Amino acid sequence: MAIFWRGLTAQETAWLTDAMLHSGEVIDLSDIPGTKVDKHSTGGVGDKVSLILAPLAAACGLKVPMMSGRGLGHTGGTLDKLEAIPGFRVMLNVAEFRAILEKVGTAMIGQTPQIVPADRKLYSLRDVTGTVECIPLICASIMSKKLAEGIDSLVLDVKFGRGAFMKSKEHALELARAMVAIGRVSGKPVRALLTAMNQPLGRAAGHTTEVIESIECLKDRGPADLMEVTYALTGHMLILGGMAKNEIEARQKMTAAIASGAALEKFRQMCVAQGGDPRVIDDYAILPTAKKLIEVVARTDAHGFVSEVDALKCGHAIMALGGGRAAVTDHVDHAVGIANLIKIGEPVTAGTRLCTLHVNDETRGIRAEALMREAILFAPSAPKVEPLIQDLIQ
Ligand code: URA
Repeated sequence: MAIFWRGLTAQETAWLTDAMLHSGEVIDLSDIPGTKVDKHSTGGVGDKVSLILAPLAAACGLKVPMMSGRGLGHTGGTLDKLEAIPGFRVMLNVAEFRAILEKVGTAMIGQTPQIVPADRKLYSLRDVTGTVECIPLICASIMSKKLAEGIDSLVLDVKFGRGAFMKSKEHALELARAMVAIGRVSGKPVRALLTAMNQPLGRAAGHTTEVIESIECLKDRGPADLMEVTYALTGHMLILGGMAKNEIEARQKMTAAIASGAALEKFRQMCVAQGGDPRVIDDYAILPTAKKLIEVVARTDAHGFVSEVDALKCGHAIMALGGGRAAVTDHVDHAVGIANLIKIGEPVTAGTRLCTLHVNDETRGIRAEALMREAILFAPSAPKVEPLIQDLIQ
């Protein structure tokens, strides 16, 4: 509570991070050949970048030891998305994690109980004392967990906007600077990108729908905004990991890894290694499928351009469908979600499809459709689309 009110200096934040880091196991990956670089996102709606970035970076020669989290509230979680793939195991022990990392080049798992136990205790305390929203505490929480993974360097995606944890760019910038500073003190190069999260990333949000969109990206058929963020983050990973001299070289390596199918092949290998059914790559029907599709189309009076797709309301629509978690113990329905989502700046007339809802329950579907209609607004002229990537902190 004192930290919440008074804040911490950079040095104090570094001490807190270090104490939290050493409250549990710190994984040592130094005997595994290659540079280990991870990415962490502060989370948003439709943020499936990890599913594309980890195999892509591995295909470009990095080792990506990724420990991710579950969804909570309106934001989704990588572990839940991976679990939409039949058989995919995310709760592996450290020995399994290391073996897959060495063999495949990436492993994507949930945090083991031995990693930063102090964070679990502190986070529950923060949750019940209204002290979650505190930049030094968030910084120490995220950085202690990332440093415990055994990484050499880290790229952060600090999101801001309606669908993000940080609503304002100023707060996101403050958090990004604090986390980059911790990296400096720890001797691990850290770069942070500040990215906008006012509308969902890509055209899909949910679990099955996001897995499909991620595989489409690896097949070089991904939406432009999602690929822009994925390439930017992966590019900085390649530079930090010594695989590329600059962003141009990084981009060449990444587009080649997608075009040759090497990134998709890494995804397949990771799926197999973690028990998932690799046939999902060619047959999306293997994924959990919703009972009904609702096409949400613009009404007869619609005319103009999409001016807003409120990411927070889209996140609430997913929760209304049963695809989100209000409490950590809630079950998520992997089959439901949003696909074919229209983007800001696209033209609309009567009958234009705004999105497709994957629905398992009629009443939930009606509520989600109403939320999507509130989320998507129109304007008579094309709005100015804000840049997705707004800053690089290093
Ligand atoms: N994510 C974390 O891991 N910790 C926080 O404190 C906030 C977001």
